[in-house]
Amino acid sequence: MIDFDVEFVRSQFPAFSDPSLQGFMHFENAGGSYACGQVIDRLDRYYRQTKLQPYYDFAPSRTAGEQMSEAQSRMAEWLNVGRDEVHFGPSTTQNTYVIAQALRAYLEPGDELIVTNQDHEANIGAWRRLEAEGMVVREWQVDPSSGELDPAGLEALLGERTRVVAFTHCSNIVGSVNPVRALTDRIHAAGALAFVDGVAYCPHGLPDLGALGADLYTFSLYKVFGPHLGVMYLGEALNRALPAQGHFFNANHAGKRFTPAGPDHAQVAAVNGVIDYFAAVLAHHAPDTPGEERSARIHQLFSDREQALLKPLLQFLDQHPRVRLVGRNTVEGRAPTVSFTVPGTPSHDLASRLGRRNIGVGVGNCYAYRLMQALDIDPEDGVIRTSLVHYTRENEVSQLIEALDQLI
Ligand SMILES: Cc1ncc(COP(=O)(O)O)c(C=O)c1O
Repeated sequence: MIDFDVEFVRSQFPAFSDPSLQGFMHFENAGGSYACGQVIDRLDRYYRQTKLQPYYDFAPSRTAGEQMSEAQSRMAEWLNVGRDEVHFGPSTTQNTYVIAQALRAYLEPGDELIVTNQDHEANIGAWRRLEAEGMVVREWQVDPSSGELDPAGLEALLGERTRVVAFTHCSNIVGSVNPVRALTDRIHAAGALAFVDGVAYCPHGLPDLGALGADLYTFSLYKVFGPHLGVMYLGEALNRALPAQGHFFNANHAGKRFTPAGPDHAQVAAVNGVIDYFAAVLAHHAPDTPGEERSARIHQLFSDREQALLKPLLQFLDQHPRVRLVGRNTVEGRAPTVSFTVPGTPSHDLASRLGRRNIGVGVGNCYAYRLMQALDIDPEDGVIRTSLVHYTRENEVSQLIEALDQLI
């Protein structure tokens, strides 16, 4: 195990040295992480030097276009997929919505889609709307006590007319990592497409999408230390098969078929900053890592760190007699996103009291509304969600535990 240099990592984030944020403890990373300096510098540079229409044949425009193309190629490399399979849109919700629009003409009445009740609504609602077109939607339900999905539940729903299964790589509430490769294999064997929401997984290391086998994989860079953009991997074959959703004259342009609005140019250029950051972390911790192992090494580095941070918090919550912990009580196979309720105490009250102590946590249903219902938690009050990432400090975790101990 490589020694993790948290001071180096924090030095890459301007937020940690900004006077306005001194003393504040950020435990709502699942909602939005801090942006690394590399991203902020890229945005600044774009706005100062190349804030004009990209891809024309004059110098600043060429430079703008080069930065955008470079971002796409580098992101594709890190995800281990083709360059034209990576699309940038305004958000995951919107990217998903566009693909759902395309499915209206691709599917036929009576075709079946399977959605879960574990997902964020972004990966449920857009597909459910297809019921209005005559498609049939089935629900793969979580275990109401653990909040976890059992693959046997999917098995019972797969049938001859199943065309799409949409599920999450990792729930933004429960935290458990679902076995994506095993699931995509099973879904493909049933002749269906696998659509995976990776939003809650990717802040903990970008996946090897080549190995995961999803047909559609989405995530949001504002939770991965970057700009407010959604990344969508759409396999080349599916891209060709679905009807284009952009302007008619762009129908043969793979990159424009499913991003009808066009992305924010400066933010696309700033995606380079996320990759620059990962590269800097690797250069500092494991400089000899071969190119093809970069994503896996970063993932391991983050995961070892996050599990060590998570352990005491999970233990505290699990053992507290007044706390109802959501999800498993072990760090293995779990992202460091931990949700809980304190029966008898409104989650919003507790979150506000933590806020007054300069501790920021998430609260509410976090748009996993159906999951709240499945867990028999009032969706309006929801859970307290504490989410950390690799830059969180040990002493922040102990201060969070101490504050919770006093307040609960
Ligand atoms: C698991 C999960 N999926 C999807 C989304 C939606 O992402 P976006 O805000 O980019 O639409 C979120 C946002 O919080 C999320 O946590």
